[in-house]
Amino acid sequence: MSSERISRRVRGIPPSGIRRFFDIAATMPDVISLGVGEPDFMTPEAIRQAGQRSIDQTTAYTSNSGLYELREAVVEHLKQRYNVMYDAEHDLLMTVGVSEAMAAAALALFDPGDEVLMPEPCFVAYMASVQLADARPVYVPTRVEECFQVTGAALEAAITPRTKAIMIGYPNNPTGAVLSPERMREIADVANRHDLLVLSDEIYDRLVYGVEHTCFASLPGMRDRTVLFGGFSKAYAMTGWRLGWMAAPEEITAAVRKVHQYAIMSAPTMSQYAGIEALRHGEASVQAMVAEYDRRRRVIVDGLNTIGLKTFEPQGAFYAFPFVGHLGMTSEQFCDRLLTEEHVAVIPGDAFGPSGTGYVRACYATSMEKIEIALERIERFVRRIA
Ligand SMILES: Cc1ncc(COP(=O)(O)O)c(C=O)c1O
Repeated sequence: MSSERISRRVRGIPPSGIRRFFDIAATMPDVISLGVGEPDFMTPEAIRQAGQRSIDQTTAYTSNSGLYELREAVVEHLKQRYNVMYDAEHDLLMTVGVSEAMAAAALALFDPGDEVLMPEPCFVAYMASVQLADARPVYVPTRVEECFQVTGAALEAAITPRTKAIMIGYPNNPTGAVLSPERMREIADVANRHDLLVLSDEIYDRLVYGVEHTCFASLPGMRDRTVLFGGFSKAYAMTGWRLGWMAAPEEITAAVRKVHQYAIMSAPTMSQYAGIEALRHGEASVQAMVAEYDRRRRVIVDGLNTIGLKTFEPQGAFYAFPFVGHLGMTSEQFCDRLLTEEHVAVIPGDAFGPSGTGYVRACYATSMEKIEIALERIERFVRRIA
């Protein structure tokens, strides 16, 4: 079939650098996957039960914006945790994960040729959602020397008259970096000076270790220029329920709702009922999972450093980002050989942007036992090639 049938927009998007490794890993019975960024826990039982109960009571659509009760629970959560105020009626939209929220926001906010600054390495969907809206992602490099936190100066250097927004994702996938309040203020200054929107993906807000997460919208003056994304997938181990939210000033939310209403109608109803239970009663489960991720984080970071793969200490999310660039092969070659020779799946760092060159991403949302076996295999591999 002629590729002319496929839109230029879609043809211009490279295939995900992650998917190939999953496909190979799926053919190996004893593989240990540190590839996919997904909690290994089941959704906590009370949340599952709330979803199950709802199916016996209603199987209808909800309002386009989502169940009012759930929007109120999100508003309450943002107020309690970050002291940032939203209105459940006008500012909130429940979505099919942060993924849909981001795609719909990009379509609603960007015109062809608009430029969106994107500190990288970053989650692969940022680039794609901006490109699918015919806008232009502009990568802004981050470096391990600055703990993978974007600086105001780096953003400033990338500004042009076409710059419309900054898209940030902290705690960060793939580096595990958390933004310090000082760096956040630098971003806020740049946004103010150049009148930019800030799209802030805070899906990992609850997964932080020994540091506090600051909600970008809670910075002075920022609520009115921030599009805030949050979700259930990571903190509540609810990836398959496909539920997230967007909170923004009313005018923006109305525009994004228009895209959402025609593309999606409403987020899954049973998931929304489960979401209410998660926000109201899920805190103990979140804390138990975070404590377990923290234990694993220490083991994997220590283990990788001991093996000689220098690893930045992640303060959030559930990824370690070791440097393998000194071993005489590309990140991709490292991942290919580690998978075929030792049956451990990790992801090349440059799949997340050029500043990931020489790194690989290892997700530690897997059992301690598997992490320990993976470390033994990685050590054997590194000794063999060193
Ligand atoms: C940084 C980041 N944002 C968003 C998502 C997508 O989340 P959701 O399941 O809510 O669509 C992911 C999933 O891996 C992610 O890592």
